[in-house]
Amino acid sequence: MWYLCVFYHRLLEYRKAEFESLAGLFDGRSGATPLEWRLPEDHHADSPFHFVNLPSEELARNIANRSILVKGIYELWGEGRSFEELEEAIRSYPDERRTPYLSPGSTFRINVDSFGKAISFPEQNECINKLAFIPFEGRVNLRNPDHKFCLMDNDNYGGTNGLPPIVQRRIFFGREIGAADRKILQTYQLKSRKYLGPTAMDAEIAFLMANQAQVKPGKLVYDPFVGTGSILVGAAHFGAMTMGADIDIRVVRDGRGPDCNVWSNFKQYGLPMPVSLLRADNNLPPWRAGLKEMFDAIICDPPYGVRAGGRKSGGRKLLKGAVDPYTVPDDKRTDHIPSTAPYSLVECVHDLLDLAARMLVMGGRLVYFYPVLREEDSPDPTFPDHPCFVLVSRCEQILSYRYSRVLLTMAKVAPYTEDIELEARLQHLEFRENHLKWLEDGKLHSAVFSPADVHTNGTGEKFSSKPKYRGKYV
Ligand SMILES: C[S@@+](CC[C@H](N)C(=O)[O-])C[C@H]1O[C@@H](n2cnc3c(N)ncnc32)[C@H](O)[C@@H]1O
Repeated sequence: MWYLCVFYHRLLEYRKAEFESLAGLFDGRSGATPLEWRLPEDHHADSPFHFVNLPSEELARNIANRSILVKGIYELWGEGRSFEELEEAIRSYPDERRTPYLSPGSTFRINVDSFGKAISFPEQNECINKLAFIPFEGRVNLRNPDHKFCLMDNDNYGGTNGLPPIVQRRIFFGREIGAADRKILQTYQLKSRKYLGPTAMDAEIAFLMANQAQVKPGKLVYDPFVGTGSILVGAAHFGAMTMGADIDIRVVRDGRGPDCNVWSNFKQYGLPMPVSLLRADNNLPPWRAGLKEMFDAIICDPPYGVRAGGRKSGGRKLLKGAVDPYTVPDDKRTDHIPSTAPYSLVECVHDLLDLAARMLVMGGRLVYFYPVLREEDSPDPTFPDHPCFVLVSRCEQILSYRYSRVLLTMAKVAPYTEDIELEARLQHLEFRENHLKWLEDGKLHSAVFSPADVHTNGTGEKFSSKPKYRGKYV
């Protein structure tokens, strides 16, 4: 059956990707077969209004209630370009579908919503009065109704909220099946989080990452760049068991004191503590200790050198062979901080894919951010690849006029073998040679932070910052 899905007008590329991932989570599909979508007449692809074909109301409810970006999913009773057309459509909606929700013993509420403008209370009442022809026999209950309905009017959609103008007004009326619980964003907002670092992940994005990873109770989720644990907090909220690692012992062991550390971030929300937090290098990960396929998802924000640069174990002298490996003497062990050397994103991403290919269960998901320079006229970016994975989705979030980050979601579809290890290495070398030159040490940092007058688009002209329609900014 076709449902009306109304999205929040933000993180535009994340919306359908989140929806599809949740559909896969609740109905067990691999996520490889996309759902059927269509747009209302005359609507732009970035419109908040979409129609989606779902096999059951239960699936629609589960997706909506778990999502972050679904404002509501509705059983559409009618739509039209005017109230007259809307009335005609609602009147011809089958009685047997309407009557169960209009019965005398039930309670109901009608919301009036719009896109691109605020509707005053008197206007809302006026709209509701125009629905008087619907034979509601139940009582109104604004706080906790049995059935919720929504009237959505996209009049004045053009020229507002950054979307290109739309030609026709469209009014929708439907029964609400479910909606995102965005109150959790307030509960988990970073400004009230005890332990924060400069790259702590925003709560909304952490929840979206958990949804992309199809996190659910009983699943084991790993973040190899755990930092303050913000990504794992999102996963734990949805019931996952969590495990993290970071190269910085001060982050995983000490934080800012006994009551201000990764553990206290879980305690603050009454979430189950991580199964373990390791001081481990993405370069020398736990599989070296004999661990195999054990994670259902790996979710992370690798250090790509814009705000926090990657480090790898060893120290410059050791890696150059100038000094031999050494054993830390027993009396220095408690406060020894191992030396590290710069770790380029190229290496980091290769090691991450290798780790994920080895340690994810079949069907498990790798969800991580990848930086992209937004040079004008540059071709579409190419993303890292691995023979064990298929790319499920890529969602761009523009961070400045110079760079964006893309949330990549990959699913493991082939087991890790020695042949695959070799194939992946060759694929990586090819990728590094052809696509990653600009990501070599420090390039991203200087591209993002160099003064505007030296930052050009390669033709000697400065980037233009003139306003234009860029949906991914919202
Ligand atoms: C972008 S931050 C992640 C922040 C984290 N998502 C949070 O919410 O706080 C990257 C983290 O990776 C860690 N890191 C850098 N190089 C690493 C490596 N080779 N192995 C493991 N962790 C590393 C840094 O110490 C830093 O905490």
